Amino acid sequence: MTDVKVCKIPFVRKEIILPGDKSISHRAVIIASIAKGPTLIRNFLAADDCLHTLSAFEKMGVEIQRLGNNQFLINGAGLYGLSKPDSEIYLGNSGTSMRLLLGIFAGQEFEAVLTGDESLCKRPMSRVTHPLRMMGAHVEGADDANFAPLKIKGIRPLRSIDYTLPIPSAQVKSCIMLASLYAGGASRITEPQQSRDHTERMFKLFNAKISVNPVKTTFGGSRGRCEISVTGGSPLISPGKLTIPSDISSAAFFIALALLLPESEIIIKSCGINPTRRGFIDILKKMGADIDMVNIKGEDFEPYADIIVRSSKLKSITVEADQIPKMIDEIPALALTAAFASGKSVIKGAGELRVKETDRINSMLTNLRAMGVNITVQDGTIIVKGPSRLKAGKLKSFGDHRTAMTMVIAGCLADGETTIEDIDCINTSFPGFMELISDFINTSRKSSR
Ligand code: S3P
Repeated sequence: MTDVKVCKIPFVRKEIILPGDKSISHRAVIIASIAKGPTLIRNFLAADDCLHTLSAFEKMGVEIQRLGNNQFLINGAGLYGLSKPDSEIYLGNSGTSMRLLLGIFAGQEFEAVLTGDESLCKRPMSRVTHPLRMMGAHVEGADDANFAPLKIKGIRPLRSIDYTLPIPSAQVKSCIMLASLYAGGASRITEPQQSRDHTERMFKLFNAKISVNPVKTTFGGSRGRCEISVTGGSPLISPGKLTIPSDISSAAFFIALALLLPESEIIIKSCGINPTRRGFIDILKKMGADIDMVNIKGEDFEPYADIIVRSSKLKSITVEADQIPKMIDEIPALALTAAFASGKSVIKGAGELRVKETDRINSMLTNLRAMGVNITVQDGTIIVKGPSRLKAGKLKSFGDHRTAMTMVIAGCLADGETTIEDIDCINTSFPGFMELISDFINTSRKSSR
């Protein structure tokens, strides 16, 4: 277990390049592995979570070559070309691997066992195993297939499904979309609020039979409701190569840091700005943040831009529940940012945070309160009263990468020396995070001499 100590940084002024997007990296490996033809994946996130997805497909016989640190060549096995793994599939801490891969395994005629670390084995899986059972897959696991280890065996073809998601979750949506590739006929998936649409974009890139339509409400607009139709049985065709933009969820920590330190400016190069992922930036702008997105490119697949962030005086905000899916992983960073804004910020509908890698509502309450922040929670609504002056403390990661990184940033903003315990989990999504922070500390020290 590694602990780290951090002190207040005077300012940050730097151009940075961050690692590839985690969600898109998972999808790139999964979809390239079941497509026809080779796919060169550039800027893949070679962090623990995505490497677990990669090795799962190697275990199923897919040829994968590592050409450089972040470049992989995947020789797609086709929809029906995967082979039975000879041992159980271990997915570490990765909920995305577990939930998306269950969709693939539902379409295989062999039996497989999927498992993970202690945290993953406590996360709810019935949100995917139950609809997969409706499609004909056999899934077994504790508490009516709610917890890993999960044993799964599919049928061919699966039954198509008409399913309205009970929770707005991109993992659940993507699981069913992947299973639908193995179904006879067309499946229809309806989302109550739009969540990240990386699977939809990747399906289009690989020529899957998919259509996405907003659903009109009785009052006219769609309020983010979408209906996705996927037709099974038709081959996915590799586009040959694809490049993954940098991860906006990793960028969130540095965005918060630059906004909250005085006289600071950072430029985050070629970072993903998919509208269904950038809720954090949209909300910060409403709070008065000085953020620009320039050099926008990649709109035919995944849009990306250079994000310029400057120190800003922020005002409080109310975030409505239907905005949460667009920033679900950035709520810890948002709660920290809200502590510096003047007034009462209210973040509604954040209950899903309770079932992330750790209970992130609890981890935020414990750590931010220890630093003197006025934060309360009532039925999934987080209330932060600011502005606060953060005091240093002894903070816990709870084994959760995003909690760990949020707390490192909090330490860089607090008076005194903050200790963050057990930060190894950061490798789950962002190897190199601590090096970047040390670099910031060193450059700001040199320039203030
Ligand atoms: C993810 C979706 C989100 C997010 C997770 C990655 C994805 O989970 O929290 O880190 O890649 O689809 P939910 O869909 O369960 O909210």
